[in-house]
Amino acid sequence: MSQSPTPEMITHSRADGEILLSCRNVTKEFSVAGSTIVAVDDVSLEFPEASVLAVVGESGSGKSTLARMLLRLMPVTSGTITFRGQDVTSLSGRGLREYWSEVQAVFQDPFASFNQFFTVGSLLRRSLALARVPKDEADALIDECLGYVDMTPRDTLGKFPHQLSGGQRQRVMVARALMMRPKVLLADEATSMLDATLRVNVLNVLHDLRNELGLTVLFITHDIGQACYLADRVAVMERGKVVERGTTEEVIFAPQGEYTRRLLADVPDLRGSLKK
Ligand SMILES: Nc1ncnc2c1ncn2[C@@H]1O[C@H](COP(=O)(O)OP(=O)(O)OP(=O)(O)O)[C@@H](O)[C@H]1O
Ligand SMILES: [Mg+2]
Repeated sequence: MSQSPTPEMITHSRADGEILLSCRNVTKEFSVAGSTIVAVDDVSLEFPEASVLAVVGESGSGKSTLARMLLRLMPVTSGTITFRGQDVTSLSGRGLREYWSEVQAVFQDPFASFNQFFTVGSLLRRSLALARVPKDEADALIDECLGYVDMTPRDTLGKFPHQLSGGQRQRVMVARALMMRPKVLLADEATSMLDATLRVNVLNVLHDLRNELGLTVLFITHDIGQACYLADRVAVMERGKVVERGTTEEVIFAPQGEYTRRLLADVPDLRGSLKK
């Protein structure tokens, strides 16, 4: 990031709201070539309403597997996922579709989510048609949600994906997620492919959404610098386990574990601010 986090820039904790989403003792095992991989190992996390929680860890630490289970795209091996106090671990059918309207996601590669032959406008209108939003409400909703990500319909809707920058494409994906009026936005490496300036831009959009819409954001990244820039609370994953958790300030200024210290050491500017 061009702007590296300093203590003054760090969002102060608003992580004292009602618990909206949580997982308890969630484990995921995969059988690969006769042996068992424990990708997520007994993870318990809570996501208070209108807060940003970052899950950070090296490649292969189980972040995306955890995200897929929270999104109910993949079943848990054991453990429980709760949304608004209700067990959603084995929802199906209509219940699951309702859950998916409350919990939306944005992934790493915005290009993968676009059909190159459709304009942004037709992409967004198609999403709304699939969600059975009446046509006469669609345009207003699109305008509103583009506004949340600092884009204007006039400059965006007629464009093809390749005519947008990576950051703009990712903001369109955030707008598309917001059209479903979710309570939770899960962003899995959503800013990883962006260059520094565009990345800060998208991070700031996510930050504002938390403040303006009361959105709960689960921000998944291998980059502890980005995690600390955005999040109220940080959970650090290593080989499937949460090995450290705390407010952003606690994790930056008083890391408990060697693994966390190592991740912090990889962000020179952050280390610089730690010395103050
Ligand atoms: N469908 C699957 N089948 C078998 N093993 C899997 C599957 N999905 C993930 N894994 C394994 O689970 C572990 C965790 O993977 P995961 O993708 O959750 O990590 P990650 O933290 O998201 O990594 P990255 O930062 O590279 O995205 C890895 O060892 C991975 O190889
Ligand atoms: Mg991943």
